[in-house]
Amino acid sequence: MSARKPYLAANWKMHMTADETTSFFDRFLGELGAAGDRDIVVCPPYLALAGAVERCRRSPVRIAAQNMHEEASGAFTGEVSAPMLTAVGVEGVVLGHSERRALFGETDEALARKVPAALAAGLEPILCVGESEEQREAAETEAVLRRQLEADLAEVGDHSLAEVVIAYEPIWAIGTGKTASPEQAEEACGFIRSLVSGRSAAAGEAIRILYGGSVKPANAADLLGREQIDGALVGGASLDPADFLAICTAAGSGRQ
Ligand code: PGA
Repeated sequence: MSARKPYLAANWKMHMTADETTSFFDRFLGELGAAGDRDIVVCPPYLALAGAVERCRRSPVRIAAQNMHEEASGAFTGEVSAPMLTAVGVEGVVLGHSERRALFGETDEALARKVPAALAAGLEPILCVGESEEQREAAETEAVLRRQLEADLAEVGDHSLAEVVIAYEPIWAIGTGKTASPEQAEEACGFIRSLVSGRSAAAGEAIRILYGGSVKPANAADLLGREQIDGALVGGASLDPADFLAICTAAGSGRQ
């Protein structure tokens, strides 16, 4: 039996105004009750962060951003830094999402700086890794995961590794309705854990590894019941309070 606390994160991407965020939480928090033994993290767009933090005060929900710059301040037009996020009460940050890697030029070099910068500022990084469909078909999944994790965590000390949350997100399953099978997801999450364990056995045991890619209420229990899968990073289905609630409720229910 895993001692790791289930972790459910909502990645809203470029959806939700500040007002829509408030309406979401009116419904979501009304139904949630006590979250009990699970972490629930919602990642709204930047402009909705401060309002979300305010609305979720005295609730079990924590708020995270979807990206940040690695420097604390400077001439970086359009960017937002870790201290700016913590100043409004944000507690975590998604880093290296495949949309940022593919559409906005996010590199492993930048991530090698962003992950420690987030930790140093007191933000919990949710680091996303995953292979494309072509890479999976060419049997390169493990090589891709190894390359990304070695590069992105290169500057994180072994003693801090377990403070990072890793999301395994096969690119071919994101927003496509194609979910990795529980077996595929578990195999990849187990491989990621073995890489972390290779650096620190204690960190490998403690680190939370999530699956992301078309997680829905209908498939959540199957995925989240797996020993190696500690939670989910949910995109589309997290925009609906009832659906995200159903996914949060599924976590923990199927565990042995
Ligand atoms: P999806 O997105 O659930 O809409 O597939 C997941 C993600 O991009 O984190």
